[in-house]
Amino acid sequence: MTSPRTTYSDSHLGTSTRTRSEPPRLRTLTGRVGANAVGAALGLRRASTRYSVHRVKVPMRDGIHLVADHYWPATSAPAGTLLVRGPYGRGLPMSLVFARLYAARGYHVVLQSVRGTFGSAGEFEPMVNEAADGADTVEWLRRQSWFTGHFATIGVSYLGFTQWALLQDPPPELAAAVITAGPHDLRASVWGTGSFAINDFLGWSDVVAHQEDPIRIRTGIRQLTAARRLARAAAELPMGESARTMLGTGAPWFESWVEHADHADPFWDRMRFPAALDRVQVPVLLVGGWQDIFLRQTLQQYQRLRQRGVDVALTVGPWTHVQLLTKGLAISARETLEWLDTHLGEAPQPRRPSPVRIFVTGHGWHYRPHWPPPTTEHSIYLQPGGGLGETPPEPGASPTTFRYHPENPTPTTGGPLLSPNGGYRDDGRLAAREDVLSFTGAALPRDLYVHGNPVIELAHTSDNPNVDVFVRVSEVDAKGHSRNVSDGYQRFGDTPETVRIELDPIAHRFTAGSRIRVLIAGSWFPRYARNLGTPEPALTSQTMKPATHSVHFGPSRLVLPVDPSADSVADPGGDLT
Ligand code: BEZ
Repeated sequence: MTSPRTTYSDSHLGTSTRTRSEPPRLRTLTGRVGANAVGAALGLRRASTRYSVHRVKVPMRDGIHLVADHYWPATSAPAGTLLVRGPYGRGLPMSLVFARLYAARGYHVVLQSVRGTFGSAGEFEPMVNEAADGADTVEWLRRQSWFTGHFATIGVSYLGFTQWALLQDPPPELAAAVITAGPHDLRASVWGTGSFAINDFLGWSDVVAHQEDPIRIRTGIRQLTAARRLARAAAELPMGESARTMLGTGAPWFESWVEHADHADPFWDRMRFPAALDRVQVPVLLVGGWQDIFLRQTLQQYQRLRQRGVDVALTVGPWTHVQLLTKGLAISARETLEWLDTHLGEAPQPRRPSPVRIFVTGHGWHYRPHWPPPTTEHSIYLQPGGGLGETPPEPGASPTTFRYHPENPTPTTGGPLLSPNGGYRDDGRLAAREDVLSFTGAALPRDLYVHGNPVIELAHTSDNPNVDVFVRVSEVDAKGHSRNVSDGYQRFGDTPETVRIELDPIAHRFTAGSRIRVLIAGSWFPRYARNLGTPEPALTSQTMKPATHSVHFGPSRLVLPVDPSADSVADPGGDLT
């Protein structure tokens, strides 16, 4: 093996847009010192080696080259190799979180910019080229004199998607993966409810379209004004025109995502890798957040891998998508390193006491052998007058109604959202809105642990067949403060008589003395594009028609998966962060 050079060897490429005034050697040194401090603050094992950083160009089958930074540990016994592929550049925070922390602990790391981003040639078409480009990068890896023979993949979100793309045809050298909030199916997240998830996917397109703007201050202003600009673009009609005004000439893919609503449309085939869940054999650690936009896919991945007998572990914390890189970073970095040391490096034995580690909101961390635990169905019926009860109300009560008007949609208040406004929030004001039905139960006599997906079943009619139904379960504490627990959303094109919506999965303790609340509305905007009340195409439609929703009493109920054994489960982790 050749010995590593000690400088940051990017000068011959001239592609870097970062800190040009700083000398290369100093940049490496400051990066290393900073990363060591961060590693210690995160509670990682001590850094064990120095490393150098080298710019490399990786050839693809169509003749173009993708740029990567190779972090080369200065040790004769490297722990292994990590491959990280993403569209967000190779500077901070990616360089720190997915490269330096591991290079300083003995891993070779290849941090690559995907096609069409940050100096890599070609055009960036989100998700579309990752299977082929990932495979070509592994082919290059095999030919490197320093390659340790086995590698693992790590990364969050898009950097998780690139891992699923590679796992569609797993290379024999792949030894392990750590996939944090990484979707394997873009369509499921964009159109899964039947309504276009405009906040997340217009917002993401805007960020990616402008992230390489050389005028940093403009990028900063864009980030600061993102929520306001997004709300305006989502509200104006026709939506296609207002979105394009926001995006400018960037993100040319955006309209095509909105135009392809049908889940069976082959348009999405290049952006989804469900077969990877059937093919992966190596140990996989999945990390997610209860308020993450990709949580349902993370849990689906876990279920499928576990069903197949793959060595899979799961950690879910009380985090949103963006918090996975802030509040959730210490836990995810520690667990990632432990997983790599166990399955790629030379850790004497696995340190993880149990495959599943989940944060029970309202309680704390629990280890579990698997997820979800066995539960029993607990039905709670909607009552006339806004109550909730354990039995259906007497027959004969008139339905309760609300009027939804697309001119004034119900505003998104916390919950899973790709924005700093997401997550757990005080949502008390929603219950007072005229376009929201609110049902609140009596104070709970004892703690109630709900583990899994709540389900709402509504006997529902509407005077307009084109409706959306949003449902939220909240917890109202003894002081009357209401906070979100789980959300569900579904679009209907032909009003069914029974609406059945599976809400977001949770691990939650409703505390004795608190009350369960169910909120029902006709929109949740701008997380989802509001239903304009007609079947017209989302990009061009300008006509708005309101809808009066009626919810009938009797069969209408919330079904909670209750874990009767939860309060007896010990918490061996003891770590409540
Ligand atoms: C992300 O990498 O955070 C992301 C990727 C695609 C859509 C939304 C978010």
